[in-house]
Amino acid sequence: MNTDFEFDHAPDRGDSASSKWEKYAGRDVIPLWVADMDFRTAPCVIDMLHERIEHGVFGYTQPPHELPTVVAAALERDFGWTIDPDWIVWMPSLVVGLSVVSRAFAAPGEEVLTAVPIYPPFLSAPRYGDRITVTVPLREEGGRWLWDFDALEQAVSPKTRTLLLCSPHNPTGRVWSRDELVQLARFCERYDLVLVSDEIHSGLVLDQDKQHIPAATLDDIATRTITLLSASKTFNLPGLGCAFAIVSNQQLRSKIQRTMRGIVHHIGALGFFATLAAFRDGQSWQLALVDYLRGNRDLVESELPTMPGLKTWHVEATYLAWIDARELSVDKPAAFFEKAGVGLYDGTLFGAPGFLRLNFACPRKRLKDALGRMLEAVLTR
Ligand SMILES: Cc1ncc(COP(=O)(O)O)c(C=O)c1O
Repeated sequence: MNTDFEFDHAPDRGDSASSKWEKYAGRDVIPLWVADMDFRTAPCVIDMLHERIEHGVFGYTQPPHELPTVVAAALERDFGWTIDPDWIVWMPSLVVGLSVVSRAFAAPGEEVLTAVPIYPPFLSAPRYGDRITVTVPLREEGGRWLWDFDALEQAVSPKTRTLLLCSPHNPTGRVWSRDELVQLARFCERYDLVLVSDEIHSGLVLDQDKQHIPAATLDDIATRTITLLSASKTFNLPGLGCAFAIVSNQQLRSKIQRTMRGIVHHIGALGFFATLAAFRDGQSWQLALVDYLRGNRDLVESELPTMPGLKTWHVEATYLAWIDARELSVDKPAAFFEKAGVGLYDGTLFGAPGFLRLNFACPRKRLKDALGRMLEAVLTR
């Protein structure tokens, strides 16, 4: 499939109130930090939004009738996961979801466990609600990031209520194997923890021999699992604010709904209808996107190892590369590359000072320019 034309010609986002691009407005810095893509979304989503906008009335909205069954059918199609549409709890974003679950299952002063490096709201969400974030490090072995089960055993306490899992993993790009997930599930059962699995990157598995396994499909774990999902990463819709939790356990579901009541705002029509089009009609575009991202990933993985002082890992899923810049021996690696014209995310925010995250979801030519600037910077410093 030739995807080059579509993804090579992304629109100029410079004057579109984009968070990613506004950060460096007026400066010659290629923004490869926050996780959105520079590509237009799928044509089926744009068509659906045109149709809804033409209607011209934007009153309070509930999920379109078809949407829950469309979501259920997509999960069956993509992962062989059978859900009851009634298990879906709509919310405006996954970050909201992380805050809600942190508060719903742990009381103030109780603990929420996760592993670093990790997408920053995993660390802040419990703290914002006066819950305690407890972290263990992932361990690196044989060029891969793995869970450290000994560290988990040491960190869990009588006050731990919840384990936050990111699957596939931002920022290391791991697609957790069935064995790894089963081990995590057993751990949650042993210590009676609620397992919260953020699967927002599940539509972005790049390795053709890997498959995303929803945590809730593992034997016996579904009743203690909350899955957080949306179409927003795969279809580049985070600005439209539509996400959901899938919760088969009715008790856990009502705890979530009670925690949201009066605080979490309902979802707008555009978010709902975009999600509907994406899950129902977006599959061929998604395949083309993943194909293009795989090419960008391969470029990143061939270029970064030529840069003295940087180390990186194979990205199995996501459009994010995780980079160890500690050997570069510069004080602030993110500031160093920013000065060279490339805006990367500072690993400190992910609980890993000295590391960087690079978002490669942009036209290949822009990525080549950015990697060229990085090479030049490390060679000439
Ligand atoms: C793992 C993970 N969860 C959640 C989010 C954010 O989701 P939302 O925009 O729905 O809050 C991101 C965005 O990058 C993410 O990587």
